[in-house]
Amino acid sequence: MPLALSTTGFDAPHRRIALPLDHATLAEARACVQSFRGRVGIFKVGLQLFAAEGPAAFALTEGTDADLFADLKLCDIPQTVEGAIASLARSSTRYVTVHASGGPAMLARAAETAERAAGGRLVVLAVTVLTSLDDGDLREQGISEKVAEHVLRLSRMAWRAGIRGFVCSPSEVELLRREHGPTALLVTPGVRPTGSQDHDQKRVATAADAVARGADIVVVGRPLREAADPSSAARALAEDIAQGLARRDATERAPSTRT
Ligand code: C5P
Repeated sequence: MPLALSTTGFDAPHRRIALPLDHATLAEARACVQSFRGRVGIFKVGLQLFAAEGPAAFALTEGTDADLFADLKLCDIPQTVEGAIASLARSSTRYVTVHASGGPAMLARAAETAERAAGGRLVVLAVTVLTSLDDGDLREQGISEKVAEHVLRLSRMAWRAGIRGFVCSPSEVELLRREHGPTALLVTPGVRPTGSQDHDQKRVATAADAVARGADIVVVGRPLREAADPSSAARALAEDIAQGLARRDATERAPSTRT
């Protein structure tokens, strides 16, 4: 039986950290990889670096023990998304994001293509509602549901389409863990160490809280990249994650109070 996505490859807390390489050039991103190699488990290539440097950015993790996360947030007609996923399957990419709002046919095609072209090696993650949005932003888009309800609706649709990985904020991660169970892979951006700036993120929590509520991977960018001492910032984050895992474990072991 294949392992649950949420348990594969996370043998140490730091392997649950995804560091976004939100840089303008390959040279800057490479320097960031050098500073954090061995200290995080995943490097994330997003739209800024991909637009500047293209697929060369996907080779940045070569020679490291980290996984590559292509955060391309694909959202297009099914055939175009299929083509993009098939191309990514030929690289060493481990995770790729698609927008859940792309709809069931697009999501199903993304999941099928990843499975066919890469087996279990390429994991499709459905982005539910961006962590930079709140209820007011959804209202402006004509969506009357609250963020949490909308995240749940999108994740159910994606699950039915065969997607088993989700991106959500720490505020909804508990809801999705309860809904989809232990096999789902839950990724949360919007993670901030206590006392650090929120920047443009609106639904934030500490890594310990996100993990205690069910997150498998935390995406932390600016607080790590802007740290004066990358090594101790990454170490503190890994300790926070370990604390969150211990809390989650204690909750799961506690006898249920429900009748
Ligand atoms: O610097 P910071 O920790 O805010 O970076 C968060 C990263 O996570 C960015 O690379 C952003 O593109 C990404 N992201 C997000 N919200 C999502 C999905 C991805 O902030 N829903």
